[in-house]
Amino acid sequence: MSIRSRRRFIRQVVGGVVASASLPISASAWSGRRGEGSRLLADITDVTRGLPTYQVADEHFWRLVKRSFSLRPGLILMNAANLCPSPASVQERVFELTRDVDRDASFQNRAKLGGLRTDAREALAAFMGADSGEIAIVRNTSAANATVVNGMELGPGDEVVLWDQNHPTNSVAWDVRAERMGFTVKRVSTPPSPRTAEVLVRPFLDAFTSRTRLVSFSHVSNVSGVALPAAELCRAARDRGVMSMIDGAQTFGAMLVDVHALGCDFYTGSAHKWFVGPKEAGLLYVRTEAIDGLWPTHVGVGWERARSAGAQKFENLGQRDDAAVAAVGDTVEFHEAIGRERAHERVKALAGALKAQLRDGVAGVHFHTPLDPELSHGVVVFRVAGLDSRQAFGRLYADHAIGGAAMGGDFEGIRLCPHIYNTMDEVERVVRVIASMA
Ligand SMILES: Cc1ncc(COP(=O)(O)O)c(C=O)c1O
Repeated sequence: MSIRSRRRFIRQVVGGVVASASLPISASAWSGRRGEGSRLLADITDVTRGLPTYQVADEHFWRLVKRSFSLRPGLILMNAANLCPSPASVQERVFELTRDVDRDASFQNRAKLGGLRTDAREALAAFMGADSGEIAIVRNTSAANATVVNGMELGPGDEVVLWDQNHPTNSVAWDVRAERMGFTVKRVSTPPSPRTAEVLVRPFLDAFTSRTRLVSFSHVSNVSGVALPAAELCRAARDRGVMSMIDGAQTFGAMLVDVHALGCDFYTGSAHKWFVGPKEAGLLYVRTEAIDGLWPTHVGVGWERARSAGAQKFENLGQRDDAAVAAVGDTVEFHEAIGRERAHERVKALAGALKAQLRDGVAGVHFHTPLDPELSHGVVVFRVAGLDSRQAFGRLYADHAIGGAAMGGDFEGIRLCPHIYNTMDEVERVVRVIASMA
């Protein structure tokens, strides 16, 4: 199909004229040729241009989005909490810049990369509702969390309040630091399978004392899928003179996030998860007023300039993979082509359909993740009576090409995280398979 006729065809899809069978959806159709990613991106923009912001386009549209990803045919990947593929336009940018540097690694040829890093930081700032001086592009959520853990000035008599569902990089990391600096780490538990926001907020309020300096929590838990009412918690913290840190590993790129509206002091995330960005790139947001009080973990070449360049002070990491850092900007472009609100709604719709169909179609299912979309987002964790979750995780992949995760401990179960490259047909198929295994 020529590009012109494909464009015409896509416009018809929005009008609902064309049957889904006619859409060229095969993932294998993406050949990895240079430029194909840009064409796929243009196809998406052609559809979304002029659509109302919140309108969730139909399945034809999401099949078009799926084509941007070079997933191996037949694979149903629902592991976004762990690692996501990047769309062709982002891959191409990484490949292109990597090749360019490998051809000519001189200072002169690489001079352009500084400008691309600035562009990426600015695009990311706009994407997150931040000022560009508040954004550092670091390696991943782990590194961003470590910057706050190591950078806060804390000592004996100070307390840090943590959710007991935090990831180790925002939990054990605090214990290790407290051992050295003598402050106290307090952990807050929330009830299993919560039904109201109030039961999630109350334990934090009860934990705050006049000695509390910081509260830090996952926006959405990677182990239970519970979403904390982040803005409410940050407001409550601010009212008490307590700083707040949000680990956004499970929300950055999956949920509409405006860090200024959330009111947090720190927000962290990984580009290679829901954001579908380059591997080993991550986000650290530091509120302008908090930058001076946070010590840098890494000090390297260029420190004298970086120290007065806002959050870039936390990006002084030595030689970087500039191709990956630059491609963060291309990933924002991809999200903008789809529409941030539309992607947010799609993740909610997929997770909602998955939960509803599991509830109705699988006997003995128990959800760790609330069914209420206000108390959850894209992470779905459940167990099925009589089904060994670890074995099921293995069989799902080996026998059915379904990529998920197995959880242990208090939230023993299967974790499935559908994302914008999944279709409603895939959700139905996954539920049928689990029902057949139960
Ligand atoms: C809540 C949370 N924080 C931090 C991380 C660490 O992410 P990364 O390995 O990309 O640094 C993860 C990884 O799954 C996570 O779920």
